[in-house]
Amino acid sequence: MGSSAMPLVIMVFSTVIAMALVHGSGIGEGPKEVEEWFQNLSHAKEKMTKLHFYFHDLTHGKGQTAAQMAQTNISSKSPTSFGFLNMMDDPLTVGPELSSKMVGRAQGFYGTDSMEEVTQIVAINFIFSGGEYNGSSLTVMGWNPILRVYREMPIVGGSGVFRLARGVVTFKTYFFNVTAGNATIEVAKG
Ligand SMILES: *[C@@H]1O[C@H](CO)[C@@H](O)[C@H](O)[C@H]1NC(C)=O
Ligand SMILES: *[C@@H]1O[C@H](CO)[C@@H](O)[C@H](O)[C@H]1NC(C)=O
Ligand SMILES: *[C@@H]1O[C@H](CO)[C@@H](O)[C@H](O)[C@H]1NC(C)=O
Ligand SMILES: *[C@@H]1O[C@H](CO)[C@@H](O)[C@H](O)[C@H]1NC(C)=O
Ligand SMILES: *[C@@H]1O[C@H](CO)[C@@H](O)[C@H](O)[C@H]1NC(C)=O
Repeated sequence: MGSSAMPLVIMVFSTVIAMALVHGSGIGEGPKEVEEWFQNLSHAKEKMTKLHFYFHDLTHGKGQTAAQMAQTNISSKSPTSFGFLNMMDDPLTVGPELSSKMVGRAQGFYGTDSMEEVTQIVAINFIFSGGEYNGSSLTVMGWNPILRVYREMPIVGGSGVFRLARGVVTFKTYFFNVTAGNATIEVAKG
């Protein structure tokens, strides 16, 4: 894989726990509906949702889903791959196999940001398709020390049924082929 960036070592098993506010039925997306939704907020109950899925970060070859967009002039010599920046549009699946049912996309970017350990700053939108979550999203921003077993990152917000969401995701690498630059990450949220 030459001097290219580490994939979002997200062949991870991650657990996502999200708390969202629910009231009434259906989510209107226009400015008027959003305002009404906020006016009703005092009657809302917080609901805990646990999600579990996998995402596949494939940086090379056939079916590529992520690509390097920048690097610093010391990145290729850095022992921690400091300063590589990647953009991704990774499929989310219910099972660890890429061929299992697709339930959304993980779009965003990640960059290696430590001189001492291989870590990433991660900014991801999980955009769900199908079922009650169709068209809703969760936004995660956090610290991903990719060589550790579990990486915990905050859910900083959401849209649609996840409006005003908060919570935590856990990433666990399910599969990581360094040579190919392919990774599968398990994610759990609640
Ligand atoms: C706000 O509450 C009213 C009364 O319960 C309900 O009819 C309406 O659908 C709610 N609006 C939204 C956007 O949830
Ligand atoms: C990287 O770029 C900076 C700023 O242009 C320069 O000062 C430095 O010498 C460069 N380092 C290498 C290893 O090329
Ligand atoms: C999800 O929403 C889109 C856009 O509203 C719609 O076209 C699509 O059919 C929906 N998919 C499912 C599986 O409900
Ligand atoms: C992984 O990488 C290789 C090329 O390095 C590619 O051919 C393969 O399709 C990729 N995807 C998966 C899911 O392994
Ligand atoms: C890892 O990727 C390399 C290069 O694409 C490939 O030759 C090898 O079979 C892959 N290993 C696994 C375990 O998938």
